[in-house]
Amino acid sequence: MSIELLLIVLAVGSLVGFLSNVLSKPIQKLYEERSGLYDKYTHYLQEVLSAFRIIRVNSLYPRVEKQFTGRSEKLQEKSYEIEKKSTYIYAVQNFMINFVVLFVMAISVYYAVLGKITFGGVILILNNFSSLIGPFQRASELLPKIFSTKALFRVLDASLLNQEILEEDEELQEFKDGISFRDVSFSYGENRVLENLNLSLKKNGKYLIVGPSGGGKSTFLKLLRKYFHPQTGGIFIDGLPLNKITKESYFSHISNVEQNVFMFDDTVRNNLTLLKDIPEKNIEEAIRRSGLQKFIEELPKGLETVIEDNGRNISGGERSRIAIARALLNESEILILDEAFQSLDYDTARAIERTILDLPELTVVNVSHILIPENKGSYDELLYVDKKKVERIPLAETS
Ligand SMILES: Nc1ncnc2c1ncn2[C@@H]1O[C@H](COP(=O)(O)OP(=O)(O)OP(=O)(O)O)[C@@H](O)[C@H]1O
Ligand SMILES: [Mg+2]
Repeated sequence: MSIELLLIVLAVGSLVGFLSNVLSKPIQKLYEERSGLYDKYTHYLQEVLSAFRIIRVNSLYPRVEKQFTGRSEKLQEKSYEIEKKSTYIYAVQNFMINFVVLFVMAISVYYAVLGKITFGGVILILNNFSSLIGPFQRASELLPKIFSTKALFRVLDASLLNQEILEEDEELQEFKDGISFRDVSFSYGENRVLENLNLSLKKNGKYLIVGPSGGGKSTFLKLLRKYFHPQTGGIFIDGLPLNKITKESYFSHISNVEQNVFMFDDTVRNNLTLLKDIPEKNIEEAIRRSGLQKFIEELPKGLETVIEDNGRNISGGERSRIAIARALLNESEILILDEAFQSLDYDTARAIERTILDLPELTVVNVSHILIPENKGSYDELLYVDKKKVERIPLAETS
């Protein structure tokens, strides 16, 4: 058979393969977007679970259900968009592949007329070419899907990691004494992040946690929040193993302040009080102490303004402040903060930190890379998390 013919076919085939790949790019992008939505969805689920007690106690089910449905619908819409675009793209890909088949047919007939190959050769080429091109056609449809679901698997792996079912049958009625980590080790897959931690957090103690990025600070907090369980060792609260304590009873003692703060589609007031009946005076005080006055004053209806779409237009700093106000109103005994001051200006951060540190009945675990000299002395301990270890640093050594 003619080498020339083979080269032409290969060149046209590669061109079509290349064009197919270029065409499938938008689909890959859509898959990535959908994976991002899944990511948000799982984060939202986590938030709902951590706010479970609040939701249950305050009969917020209908609200949560509505938001949940909204998010599911967004995912469905994205899937529909993917299906629609895929259909167009596959149609074009099929057209191009059929074009190659026709092209090969035409060129082999042309070569046969020129006498470069026999007509028997033409039949041989055409018979085998369609079975040769079949797998390519199938691959061009499936490869983008396979590549783009990789990201999704990564997200799923991370969420499923360490989620073994544990029997939780103890209720934590009252937090009396402290939390201790005993020989705690934790890894994400092969990546060991914390190793043989031994430390105690006393009730009403104020702890500042610092360390380089990726050192394991947030992971430490995730263990403390019961989002993950240590693979070895144990965390004990008043001597009870944390993994035996029901999430519901544990979460009733803690408040979380993260950048990603859970918002209900409801008024600012209800987002602060979580529908609890709280005297106006206390609400005003919490607003003042969390530095929210200006934000609320500027809202069209003040406290009665409705937050929509999980507070899409609310900045990171405002969210942190809302979470801090919530924690103050919730009167939780343990406050866990993860870079809660990051988006705040220095003076606001200092004032809010002061408020928190001045509450004698509050245990504070604050992960922050912002060290405020005026407040530093109010912490009981400074913990440095890095290289799988948590070390105590004497406060006097910090600058
Ligand atoms: N969900 C996860 N799945 C897999 N690995 C993770 C996950 N979360 C964190 N890691 C890894 O664990 C290590 C510690 O991360 P962690 O978020 O605890 O650090 P950090 O000290 O909070 O950092 P930063 O200051 O940047 O917030 C990093 O190497 C990170 O890549
Ligand atoms: Mg972190």
